[in-house]
Amino acid sequence: TKQLKEFNLSSPKNVGPFMAVDTTHNILVRYRCHGPPIRFSTVLSSELRYISNELDGLAGGPNTVVVLSIWSHFSTFPVEVYIRRLRHIRRAVVRLMDRAPGTLVVIRSANLQLLDQEVSLYNSDWFSLQLDATLKAMFKGLNVLMVDAWQMTAAHHLPHALHPPPAIVGNMIDVLLSYICP
Ligand SMILES: *[C@@H]1O[C@H](CO)[C@@H](O)[C@H](O)[C@H]1NC(C)=O
Repeated sequence: TKQLKEFNLSSPKNVGPFMAVDTTHNILVRYRCHGPPIRFSTVLSSELRYISNELDGLAGGPNTVVVLSIWSHFSTFPVEVYIRRLRHIRRAVVRLMDRAPGTLVVIRSANLQLLDQEVSLYNSDWFSLQLDATLKAMFKGLNVLMVDAWQMTAAHHLPHALHPPPAIVGNMIDVLLSYICP
């Protein structure tokens, strides 16, 4: 039976924040969108928070899992913007690990996307691949696990899509859960 229940915070679609609880197993799941640059609908400035600041506000510990996804909305910016942002996040992750050892940090990498005539004017898998290499290099050597969405979308027979189809997302969740309960 499904014991995880969404708590309706009346948040806008895609933006959140979202929350779900499983009171039987004492699990709380929270989601929030990252700070600028954003490419979804309007976000209240009070909800627009940088990942590094959010990490600094976390107590953390062995019962905390943090999952980060930092790529897509940077794909129309020069790599320097991405590097600068990742450096702040990396430092916040190091601080989190120092004060709360045992916190599990998982990062979801970039994925391939459908590049039709219009999208290919401002997006490119070649550029995404460079951002992804940057992401993996930036967190190398830290105790951080990777959900390699790039490999998972490249290897799958389903067509490439910015938002991968449910079968691939399911695979990513399986990898994530195998990290949480090895
Ligand atoms: C959440 O509540 C709002 C009203 O506060 C409602 O409009 C919306 O449909 C609800 N969402 C879900 C998923 O039940």
